[in-house]
Amino acid sequence: MVISVVGAKGGIGKTTVAVNLAVLLAKRHGEKVALVELPGQVSDGGMFLDLTTRHGFLSLTEVPAVDADFLARIMSTHESGVHYLGATSDRPAEELSRTSAATVELAGQVLGALKRRFTAVILDCPVALWPLASYMLRRSHTVVAMATLEDMAVLRSALSLRELLGAAGVDSERVVPVVNRAQRSGALGLEDYTRVTSWEKPMVIPEDARSCAAALNEGVPLVLKSPGAPASQAIARLAREVAERARRVTGATVARSHAAG
Ligand SMILES: Nc1ncnc2c1ncn2[C@@H]1O[C@H](COP(=O)(O)OP(=O)(O)O)[C@@H](O)[C@H]1O
Ligand SMILES: [Mg+2]
Repeated sequence: MVISVVGAKGGIGKTTVAVNLAVLLAKRHGEKVALVELPGQVSDGGMFLDLTTRHGFLSLTEVPAVDADFLARIMSTHESGVHYLGATSDRPAEELSRTSAATVELAGQVLGALKRRFTAVILDCPVALWPLASYMLRRSHTVVAMATLEDMAVLRSALSLRELLGAAGVDSERVVPVVNRAQRSGALGLEDYTRVTSWEKPMVIPEDARSCAAALNEGVPLVLKSPGAPASQAIARLAREVAERARRVTGATVARSHAAG
């Protein structure tokens, strides 16, 4: 199963959710998990996992053909079992100039190789690099659409995200809308989110700045460091939902291909 965690803005929790979802799918749901940051950003997923990285997705623009063994060699392994590939290495200055070589064709090779080796591929997906993101979203069984209630600009970006998902050919049944950093006393509420985006009943992750910052500063994923924290419990619910949905979709795909002979 391929799961994208996507958002039309930075700083809204894409990486937090992608990392912790990956860890939970590996540890609690028995999946062999690859966590991949797509180009269009400077890597920081390694910080959440305390992993240093010498290669990233953009390193792949320099090899003639990507295969599963090569990918396995350049990915870093976290103690949870999650295999991680950042968008860039820890030294991105030179790599970022290769961004335009991150084509849809390369993305197809990478995703194909990952699907041969892993049962769950989690993509940390900004929308900056289009059509690469569009291609990856179209090939995802589940799309976790991130937003916060911080201000109207974030809500507008969530509406843009909804339109982008439509343009990418992602049907609405595959989308799990998520509101992160929710606060009881915030100026904007879930009714504003639904009014602007037309997404109803999003999954909600509460604001938990202390736990999130402590986890990130230590390089221990939140769901391992503070499993009882409200934000961890919300991400655990999201992991159950995502695992269930992805199984339904992949099950349906298998059933269809059997029916087709
Ligand atoms: N539920 C939350 N409560 C408080 N802080 C959060 C929450 N989720 C994420 N954060 C913090 O917000 C910042 C941005 O999160 P990040 O996952 O890096 O966003 P993105 O990948 O979308 O840029 C980080 O400092 C992270 O610790
Ligand atoms: Mg990020």
